[in-house]
Amino acid sequence: MLDKKEVGEKAIDYVKDGMVVGLGTGSTVYYFISKLGQLVQQGLSIKGVPTSKQTEKLANELGIPLVSFNEIEQIDVAIDGADEVDQELHLIKGGGGALLREKIIAAAAKTFIVIADSHKNVNKLGTFPLPIEVVPYGVEMTIKHIRELGGSPELRKKDGTIFLTDNGNYILDSSFQEIKQPKELEKNLNLIPGVVDNGLFVGMADAVITIVDNKLVTIVRR
Ligand code: 5RP
Repeated sequence: MLDKKEVGEKAIDYVKDGMVVGLGTGSTVYYFISKLGQLVQQGLSIKGVPTSKQTEKLANELGIPLVSFNEIEQIDVAIDGADEVDQELHLIKGGGGALLREKIIAAAAKTFIVIADSHKNVNKLGTFPLPIEVVPYGVEMTIKHIRELGGSPELRKKDGTIFLTDNGNYILDSSFQEIKQPKELEKNLNLIPGVVDNGLFVGMADAVITIVDNKLVTIVRR
C-alpha cells in the first residue's frame, strides 16, 4: 500500500497548471487522483479525462473538473497503473477491466507515465493473465482463436456473474505463461474478429515510476 501511495503521489510532478490530464484506473492511480484533488482544491487548474466510470466517480467526488474527448485537441499527460512492467517498459494492463479506454487515452497523450509498485516489475511479461476485451457475440469462436495463439482464456466473472466492461464487452483473462514477443502478440490478438483490444501496451510508456530496492525511481524509455 505504501508503495502504491509513494509512486502515485510522485506522478504529480508531471502535472502542470493548464494541462489536460488522462486519469487511469485502479488502486495505485487512486493515490495520484487523491493528491490531484487536493491540489485542485488549492487552486491548480487542470482538466481530467477519465479512463473508466469508477475514475469518473472518484474525480467528481474530489471536485476535479472533467472533459470528454470531443472537447479537447489532445491530452498533455496520462497517468495510469499497470499489472506487469518489463525492462523495456512494455506493459500488461486491464486488471481492472478498463484497458480499452486506458489505451485510447494513453495513445492520445503527449506523455504517458506509468505508476507501478515493486511487485509489478518482471523480466518477461505473461505471469499475469492477459486481459482481452471481446464483444459478447461469438465469444466461443473468439476463445478458440485465442487458444490457437497459445493462450488459455477464462471468461472474467465478478460475484458469480459475467463481468461487463464500461463498453458492454466481456474480458477474457488469458494466460500465455511467458510472452516472448509482446508486439507480435498484441497485433495478432487484435486481428481476431471479436477482439476489441488487449492489455498489452507495447512501446507506449514514456516513463515508469516504481520502487526498486526500496527506492523510488523513475525509469525513462530509451
Ligand atoms: C485497470 C488497470 C490498472 O492500471 C492495473 O490493473 C493496475 O491496478 P492497481 O493499480 O490496482 O494494481 O490496468 O484496467
